[in-house]
Amino acid sequence: MKAAIINEFGSPDVFEISDIEKPIINPDQLLIKVKTVGLNPIDWKQRKGNHKLILGSPFPIVLGYDICGEVIEIGEEVNKLKKGDIVFGSLDNKYGGALAEFAVGHEKCFSLKPENITDEEAAAFPMVSITVLQAFRNKSNLKTGQTVLINGASGGVGHIAMQIAKIMGLKVIAVASTNSKDFVEKYKPDLFIDYSHQDLLKTDIKVDVFLDVACNYSFPKTKHLLNPNGVYLNLAFIDTIKKMPVFLLHQIFAKGKKGRALLMKHNNSDLDTIAQWISENKLKVNIDKTFSLEQISEAHEYAQKGHNKGKNVIVISN
Ligand SMILES: NC(=O)c1ccc[n+]([C@@H]2O[C@H](COP(=O)([O-])OP(=O)(O)OC[C@H]3O[C@@H](n4cnc5c(N)ncnc54)[C@H](OP(=O)(O)O)[C@@H]3O)[C@@H](O)[C@H]2O)c1
Repeated sequence: MKAAIINEFGSPDVFEISDIEKPIINPDQLLIKVKTVGLNPIDWKQRKGNHKLILGSPFPIVLGYDICGEVIEIGEEVNKLKKGDIVFGSLDNKYGGALAEFAVGHEKCFSLKPENITDEEAAAFPMVSITVLQAFRNKSNLKTGQTVLINGASGGVGHIAMQIAKIMGLKVIAVASTNSKDFVEKYKPDLFIDYSHQDLLKTDIKVDVFLDVACNYSFPKTKHLLNPNGVYLNLAFIDTIKKMPVFLLHQIFAKGKKGRALLMKHNNSDLDTIAQWISENKLKVNIDKTFSLEQISEAHEYAQKGHNKGKNVIVISN
């Protein structure tokens, strides 16, 4: 099968389009004919080798997690999905394996693609929307009417976070650059803060959750912006875990305020919730750029600048 592979870690140029063996499924997995792949920062971080100490260097590596595609084979232990289903989801293999004609994943990774969105949109949703749902529901204990600050509101996670916050009845403070202001304001945040002109730490805002999508703050730096029992939540899981002893020290006299990190967990009941919101037109994804598999180096070059409006998608087949 055709795939974008890497044989070394490094710059976006390390990709090669190659012919490799089609993956074989285990009894609890599905084989998917990939239509589209959504890019996430984890893809370019892993291409650089950032996770090699944890995941090793099993070259050739096929990167990419988020896909939309057709189920073409199911293992004997798979019971919810069937051949011919069009699904979307985030793969749970080491390094993903999405940037290819075929990919494998466990059933818990996938849900049926809502009919009211394109294949490109479907591949753009999974990782960012499951992350936001788990951030607001599992890590924050938010109640209707409370306030979330989204630092990095214009990117993949951020523009979905603004919408899920509204679905959950929360007030939204959105932080992004001047360049992103018009895009972010389409999602009607209660307040927009332009980080290019204003120092967030010197404002007098108070929030119940500080969702640090851009990951450039910390619990000690932001705790004065939190209401009592408020949560600072960082999405750079590995970096934040290293800082946890410092966070715990700062929590001692912090009026119940907490510093936390989040790592998305694969869970198709969360993806079903997302699919339901999509079907009801409550949740939409913005596609910034679309690329072919042959343009994968260009796509990574663009995505790793970290200033896209919404998501970037690779089209593998129609
Ligand atoms: N832990 C998990 O399970 C998990 C899951 C998903 C994502 N993540 C992580 O979450 C992060 C964001 O992902 P993403 O998909 O949203 O990335 P993205 O699409 O590249 O968006 C990055 C965002 O950061 C903003 N930004 C850049 N510099 C900033 C600054 N100094 N202050 C405030 N905002 C700034 C950008 O806005 P401007 O263009 O306006 O600067 C943009 O909105 C990545 O590190 C990713 O790995 C973690």
